[in-house]
Parts: sequence; structure tokens; C-alpha cells
Amino acid sequence: MKFFVCLMMLVSTAAGVIMDLSGQMFTFPQETNTAHVKLIPELVNFPAVTVCHRSFTDLKRDHSLFSLSSTNDHNHFLVFMNWAKQEIQSHVHSLFVGYGGLDYAPNKWHSICTTWNSSLGLVQMWFNGQPLVRKYIATTFPLTTNPIIIVGQEQDSHGGGFDAKQSFVGMMCDVHMWNYVISPCEIQKYMKEKNFTPGNVLNWAALNHQKTEKVLTENKQIGCHDLHEEGCRNNIFAQHFASAPLF
Ligand SMILES: *[C@@H]1O[C@H](CO)[C@@H](O)[C@H](O)[C@H]1NC(C)=O
Repeated sequence: MKFFVCLMMLVSTAAGVIMDLSGQMFTFPQETNTAHVKLIPELVNFPAVTVCHRSFTDLKRDHSLFSLSSTNDHNHFLVFMNWAKQEIQSHVHSLFVGYGGLDYAPNKWHSICTTWNSSLGLVQMWFNGQPLVRKYIATTFPLTTNPIIIVGQEQDSHGGGFDAKQSFVGMMCDVHMWNYVISPCEIQKYMKEKNFTPGNVLNWAALNHQKTEKVLTENKQIGCHDLHEEGCRNNIFAQHFASAPLF
């Protein structure tokens, strides 16, 4: 039996709280139009984007997995499960492409990464280690203008406009964001929960965030005998980051 030391870094800022959430997850236990976590980015100019997260749910309706709005555009960068179409959609600047035929089974952890490059206009989603089709959305200017990033709800206005029927109910962890397209090798390392270069915009191991009521930060649940199960098991980030300066 292995014991993991829980190193918790807790730094308060005016905007939110910066925590090392390695080994932890957000639990959204209830359908509401309020419960969410606001993730405060380290950078606000995105010539390209990679967003990765792991989530676990049994919802049988639309739900948001990652919602980034700007002043003028509430679907600036959105990862959204469209239940009627049975596809996970990647929205950029209010345009979107859909990925269907995915084994989005309930009550399992799913690792999802989405990349977008503004000069090529290409989006690509990765689902549980599998690269999906590279699809054209649009070439456009870098995403910027005061981003607000929220998990747990979908923004229909800048920082609000939540709809309980699009909320996320379940668990989520390991949210990272980069302002560039990370390599396929780095994505595979993320998916396999191996060492990878953490997000330079959002880093789960030093996450500046604000949590509302009805969201819990809990330890990931790890079986005693099956440490190799899929998902948000305790991982090597804690060891990795313990030796590296976080700020
Ligand atoms: C987009 O991809 C091209 C080709 O790989 C690359 O040269 C360019 O730097 C990328 N742009 C951004 C903003 O990452």
C-alpha cells in the first residue's frame, strides 16, 4: 500500500485562491443554475488554445464541460455535450464543429483535450487517448478581451446567463489550458496521467479559482487494490510539482 503525501499550497489573492489541486477533484453534486467554479487565467491572449480536462457524469442531457466567454462573445471557447445530436462540440468564436460516435459512457472518467490554432483555423479534439478528425472552424484573430472561464455551468452572457439544464453534474479534475497547441506526445502523456508540461494559462497544480456554494473540492477516490483504474487516480503531479517552484 502506497501512501501519498498531500501537499496543499494555499495562497489567497484578491481574485481567488491559488491551490495545488493535484490528487483532488471538483464535485458538482446537484443540478442548479448557480453552482460553478470560475478559473482565473494567468494569461489572457490566446493565438492558439489547448484545453484538457477529465470528467465523470451520468447526465442524459446537454451539459457544458468548459465555458470561456469574452466581453462580446459568450461562446468564445466552449466544450459542450449536445445530447440530441449525441456529439461533443467544440465552439470557437460562436462557430462550432461536432464530434459524434464517441464512447461517452456514463459513470466513467473521460479525458478530453481540444486544440485550436487561429492562423490555420483548425480544431482537433482528443478523446480518451484517441485523436479525432482535424476540422476547420475559422481563421480569426487571437481570442482575447477579458475572458471569463467557468466549469459547472454554460455562460449565455459574460460571466452569467446560466441554465440548470446545461449545468454539469458529476466530478471534474485535471483542468489545464495552454495558449498554444501542445504536441500529440504531450496530449498522450496528459491522457495517461504521466508527467507533462502543465498549462501556462490554467494549471491544476496551481489553480487560481473561485468556487460557489454546492461545489466541493474532494480527494480523488482511489481503490485500495486497483491503483491502475482509469481516471482521476492519484497521480504523479504531486511528486513532480513538489520539487518545482510553482510561482
Ligand atoms: C498554427 O500552426 C502553424 C503550422 O503548424 C504554426 O506555424 C503556427 O505557429 C501555429 N499558430 C499558432 C498561433 O500556434
